[in-house]
Amino acid sequence: MPINPFNPYFPAHDELFANRRKEQALFERALATSTQSTLPGAWNLALVGPWGIGKTSLLRRFAWMAQTHDPPVAVVTLTATTATGTFDGFVRSLLSRIHHDLGAQPRLSERLRTELQQWEPRIHLGPVSLARYPNPSDLEVTTGIDLLYTELSRLWNQHVSDRLAAICLFIDDASNLLTIDKNALLNLRAAFQDLQGQRMVYPLIITGPENMFEATRDASEPVARFFERLPIGPFTRHDTQEAIVEPLTAVHYPVTIEPSAVDAVYDRTLGHPYFVAFTMRELIDAAALASTTRVNDTFVAHQWPIVAERFSEEKFTAEWNQATDSERDVLVAIARGNVASQGNRSGATLALRLVSKGLLTKHGRGQYRLYHPLFQEYVLHQSR
Ligand SMILES: Nc1ncnc2c1ncn2[C@@H]1O[C@H](COP(=O)(O)OP(=O)(O)O)[C@@H](O)[C@H]1O
Ligand SMILES: [Mg+2]
Repeated sequence: MPINPFNPYFPAHDELFANRRKEQALFERALATSTQSTLPGAWNLALVGPWGIGKTSLLRRFAWMAQTHDPPVAVVTLTATTATGTFDGFVRSLLSRIHHDLGAQPRLSERLRTELQQWEPRIHLGPVSLARYPNPSDLEVTTGIDLLYTELSRLWNQHVSDRLAAICLFIDDASNLLTIDKNALLNLRAAFQDLQGQRMVYPLIITGPENMFEATRDASEPVARFFERLPIGPFTRHDTQEAIVEPLTAVHYPVTIEPSAVDAVYDRTLGHPYFVAFTMRELIDAAALASTTRVNDTFVAHQWPIVAERFSEEKFTAEWNQATDSERDVLVAIARGNVASQGNRSGATLALRLVSKGLLTKHGRGQYRLYHPLFQEYVLHQSR
């Protein structure tokens, strides 16, 4: 028996990735624009959306597309964490990741890779750097922004220009940088805008929640304009069908998913990628246990109570426990469609806090909804 190809905790694999055509077309255009040498600058993208909506999967897909792009570009990927402690720490980890990834570009010639490896980023200021940089003024780099700018322009001017069309940098969960430094995105923008203005093609593609740019407050406007926002939403019915059928086909899984089953999964998950992958993992395991080779809507309906129970255990209970008593009251009121009671100020504050926890979504002034109808069902159940 082949293994169940669905894993809601792992970003979608390349072979399993068929959907999101509109987003892929947009990235294709962005890449083409960035790598046309007659145009200055690069096209920077921010994939924004809630937890589990498919940002990491799509970012990896974009990196894969860049890797197969013509003319050749180099691809560097990094997940931002708060563990780097400071923006300078992040810069050091980014530079060393660039150095590492440039030596491992599958599509570049051995010669070009060796050439790119000649660039040793200045990360540690010490004797090694002193030997390499006989001019001591080179060492007077103080801030992370300066370090980023000088090292990346040295890389471009000495080793890259005319050999590569671009070096694309993919930074997942870039919003984590705001936790360590609220000016992190402004700093990144400062360095990359200058590089891009000097015709060094370093497109930046980042991910984060929808409100990522609001966190920088009044300074956020230039950051927001630097990135083209690409909001990531749930799958369409068609995307859902592909997310369900393609992975099974890819591993030659001996089960047929009937259109009625796709409809049943879509109706319950509303195309939320995490929920789709989770549901499918459960359904495929259940089908194997029952030796079922055709999955239809009746099978889905029959299994649903078990799937819903698994959602509670794995996700909803933790989310419910995370909420304070008064936040729970708000969740219950909204789940019951009782939004009028949230008109007061403390209700509004609580609602906003729940938005930042990802449990509520905002739809216009004072209009909130639970982030997913399945969570709504869970909350209604808790309040009985
Ligand atoms: N395009 C896709 N095709 C198939 N499955 C997907 C796709 N995007 C996301 N998924 C599924 O949804 C889960 C959550 O996606 P992920 O990319 O990790 O979301 P995010 O980074 O927004 O939290 C993944 O583990 C994967 O199972
Ligand atoms: Mg992610």
